Amino acid sequence: MKLIDAHNRRLNYFRISITDRCNLRCQYCSPRHHTPMLAHEDILRYEEILHLIRISVRLGISKVRITGGEPLTRKGVCEFIRAVNQVEGIRDVSLTTNGVLLKNRVDALIIAGLRRINISLDTLNPEKFKIITGVDAFDQVWEGILKAYQAGISPIKINTVALRHVNENELEDIARLSFTYPFHFRFIEYMPIGITGKGLSDSLYTPEIKQILADRVGRLIPVEHQNSDGPADRFRFEGAVGEVGFISAMSHHFCHTCNRLRLTASGQLRSCLLSDHQQDLKTPLRSGASDEALAAIFLKAASLKGIQHSLAADTPVQVSSRMSSIGG
Ligand code: 5AD
Ligand code: SF4
Repeated sequence: MKLIDAHNRRLNYFRISITDRCNLRCQYCSPRHHTPMLAHEDILRYEEILHLIRISVRLGISKVRITGGEPLTRKGVCEFIRAVNQVEGIRDVSLTTNGVLLKNRVDALIIAGLRRINISLDTLNPEKFKIITGVDAFDQVWEGILKAYQAGISPIKINTVALRHVNENELEDIARLSFTYPFHFRFIEYMPIGITGKGLSDSLYTPEIKQILADRVGRLIPVEHQNSDGPADRFRFEGAVGEVGFISAMSHHFCHTCNRLRLTASGQLRSCLLSDHQQDLKTPLRSGASDEALAAIFLKAASLKGIQHSLAADTPVQVSSRMSSIGG
């Protein structure tokens, strides 16, 4: 049996949140007053996650992304990534990080076999970084990005959540970095997930962002979409070494190509980022359920995967779980 959903999408990509803790408090994700944290014993142990990964591989998973919260805040993460890389059948392991702790981990991550990384960066201005994230850490993040680049991690994807009145006036500067660095700069539409300090009126949608970049930076030349691209629509400016991309969860459904399952730090399996439906894996796992019984839970989650999410630009429905617990 393989993970194929009712709409014939083959699920081969597993996004795994290893912690709901984070060392930043991004306005659009987890402002300080909305941050309850899971107790230590509620978080899956690394061996438990590896067990679930092995089961998922038999069901067709071949790609894993490690997320959080901030995954680099969890002890032993490099060894864990190494162990994931060694699971037979896993062909690709990647990491999403806010970059704060990256600089000193790059070497260990490379030794662990990590080749691809996504780093969040919403501004190039240290003062604004502090306003958006609550922490004065721009320089640390930028040094981490450069260190990863110099060490040969590729591709490096930079994720920027575009927000009106927050970083609207910086999008062109971020996009211009693609002339200097071979990174993929991805502009992400804000999604109303969890209780945050932001609402739909703060969103900037892709058509508007593209217009800003086309007017101020240059013509956006489409880059051919590959199966492994995920939801980003890719472009390049004439003469640039890097790319820009757009992730338009709100203005443009990309659900028909969605190939993912998600595991929360507390062991809940989710088939859609934008739905609160989840299957509990932790309880059966800890009460000694057989691999077959656990596999059946994966198959059930796949079968319940909706055809598309119910959020849209004109329907301000909120998902109540927090982004930092689902892992983006
Ligand atoms: N909408 C869109 N993107 C978000 N991220 C976090 N919260 C949101 C949200 N509400 C982004 C982060 C990170 C990625 C994992 O998800 O910036 O790059
Ligand atoms: Fe920011 Fe990511 Fe941490 Fe959320 S999980 S506060 S988006 S760094």
